[in-house]
Amino acid sequence: MGTFTEIGQVNYDRILITGGGGLIGSHIADQLVELGIEEIVILDNFTRGAHSNLAQAISHGRVKLIEGDIRDRNLVMEVMKGIDLGVPSSSDSNHPVCRRTPIGSGSAC
Ligand SMILES: NC(=O)c1ccc[n+]([C@@H]2O[C@H](COP(=O)([O-])OP(=O)(O)OC[C@H]3O[C@@H](n4cnc5c(N)ncnc54)[C@H](O)[C@@H]3O)[C@@H](O)[C@H]2O)c1
Repeated sequence: MGTFTEIGQVNYDRILITGGGGLIGSHIADQLVELGIEEIVILDNFTRGAHSNLAQAISHGRVKLIEGDIRDRNLVMEVMKGIDLGVPSSSDSNHPVCRRTPIGSGSAC
């Protein structure tokens, strides 16, 4: 049994951050580490963002980094196993295709 951490009135011990290598996601990871969350799973394909953004969070040993794409359904289903809370912060919103046609573009806008 893991150590539960309280956010608001709900307890979570495994949290997934998609796009956790990005600006916002990596800061969320740092905050969750500080809160004492037992396991923080990052899913990022690093089309943007950077591994270095996660250096501090990973140094605590409670961050699991998975390099992959959120459009990979099977991967997401696998990664979601045992996750209590998902934080979506992955985006390709600066991509020109997303700016023109965000819906149905095939990109993760
Ligand atoms: N930074 C801001 O000031 C700001 C303000 C308001 C809203 N937002 C929104 O917050 C979200 C995150 O912003 P950010 O500044 O952290 O962006 P960012 O580009 O720094 O981070 C996004 C991360 O998502 C990852 N990513 C992109 N496509 C992916 C995919 N298909 N699969 C897996 N990972 C993928 C990138 O590699 C990157 O690490 C975006 O939706 C953005 O529009 C940002």
